[in-house]
Amino acid sequence: MDNQPQPLRLGLIGFGCVGQGFYDILQQQPGLGLAVTRIAVKSPDKPRTLPADHFTYHADELLNDPTLDVLVEVIDDAAEAFRLVSAALRQGRRVVTANKAMLARHLPELVQLEQNFGGALLYEAAVCGSIPVIRTLDGYFSHEPLRAVQGILNGSSNYVLTRMSEEGSDYAAALAEAQALGFAETDPALDMGAFDPRSKAVILAAHAYGVFLEADEVLNLGIEAVGAADVAYAAARGQKVKVVASVQRLPNGRVAALVTPQMLGPESPLFIVEHEFNGVVVEGEYAGPQFLGGRGAGGHPTGSAVLADVLALRRGLRYGYAKQATAPALQAAEELELDVYLRHPDVGVLREVLTWLELPATALRTDVHGVYATGPVPLLRLRQWRDELRTAGVFVARRGEVQAVEAVAEGQLAASTLA
Ligand SMILES: NC(=O)c1ccc[n+]([C@@H]2O[C@H](COP(=O)([O-])OP(=O)(O)OC[C@H]3O[C@@H](n4cnc5c(N)ncnc54)[C@H](OP(=O)(O)O)[C@@H]3O)[C@@H](O)[C@H]2O)c1
Repeated sequence: MDNQPQPLRLGLIGFGCVGQGFYDILQQQPGLGLAVTRIAVKSPDKPRTLPADHFTYHADELLNDPTLDVLVEVIDDAAEAFRLVSAALRQGRRVVTANKAMLARHLPELVQLEQNFGGALLYEAAVCGSIPVIRTLDGYFSHEPLRAVQGILNGSSNYVLTRMSEEGSDYAAALAEAQALGFAETDPALDMGAFDPRSKAVILAAHAYGVFLEADEVLNLGIEAVGAADVAYAAARGQKVKVVASVQRLPNGRVAALVTPQMLGPESPLFIVEHEFNGVVVEGEYAGPQFLGGRGAGGHPTGSAVLADVLALRRGLRYGYAKQATAPALQAAEELELDVYLRHPDVGVLREVLTWLELPATALRTDVHGVYATGPVPLLRLRQWRDELRTAGVFVARRGEVQAVEAVAEGQLAASTLA
């Protein structure tokens, strides 16, 4: 056995849902040539599934251990994760992370550190759990111009919407169920307010288009105010309410990114993505539309993506960010218009919202559930009033694809459909 290669020595930082899931998979696959030799966690008092001598409570000890070949960072603290991952990259180390919030905030800096110090950073688990979407965009589609990448990127909100439309559950009961099943973040606003899928959209934009967007540039509207009337409105039209992230190239070369509820019909491959599952449609210029679907969260699915990254690092894989070279100079598109549906039980509130969004009073409609409004709204207005809409409890959904508004002649505006 003298000729057996030494196993790759892994330092695991975080032993919660994902860390434990990753560790379990490794225990069940002993022939992979991987060994978790050190584990760092935070609290000494928590009950663990392994003896206490397997753990350290100081992640810096792993940073300072030169015998570790790869660091796997799966903690739930984005600021601390950035400190650890950036320090590891400064040492030229190979690192795997699942922390989408950290990546969305610091991706350009982390990529620079990787390039400057010769390390490598992979993060497939950060977007859509087990679905290999980052590697698909970065590798397979590295030179294919993409028309759009659209997806259901958050399993918790999708679970809530599925329960509401299938079972007629109300929002609070469906959310409590998602939390009990462990799909939802401790702070439900991250999932239900679409902050989590916004981080993922930022990461997808980097690989699909080579642009590093600021999270604030991406409009995110959530489902905290969704009700039975909205689900019924969609169902009456053969549609479902889904939270869809869209990152797409506009005719002027700019990139538009937003995450909002959308009324989706069966013509979309995302229509059948239910419960905690995620799905992504990649629309290539030459390849046409392709659909990837699977489990977007959970210890084992996410641990499986972490494992795939560790094995890829052993083979020498690094992301290419090939599209960065041709990335549009002006990145986030502002000049967009969305065809929206708005509902609030109080018609007075709804009337005020119409003024915020520059919609005429004729946008108001009624159905058996009460009053709602529909009409075209500039993206800028939705971004400007996002927090107020949220605080007022107004449910907002897109009714169709994003429209690019282009000046055609002397102040005249025309809308052209994308995708
Ligand atoms: N859960 C999912 O399905 C999923 C899917 C995709 C991506 N992610 C991402 O994966 C990461 C981990 O998520 P999770 O669900 O596994 O979180 P979690 O269950 O809350 O576990 C977090 C772990 O990190 C440890 N930790 C926190 N701060 C630490 C520090 N300063 N030093 C060392 N250890 C520290 C905690 O220690 P204690 O055990 O002592 O508390 C715990 O073991 C997050 O970035 C999350 O966004 C999660």
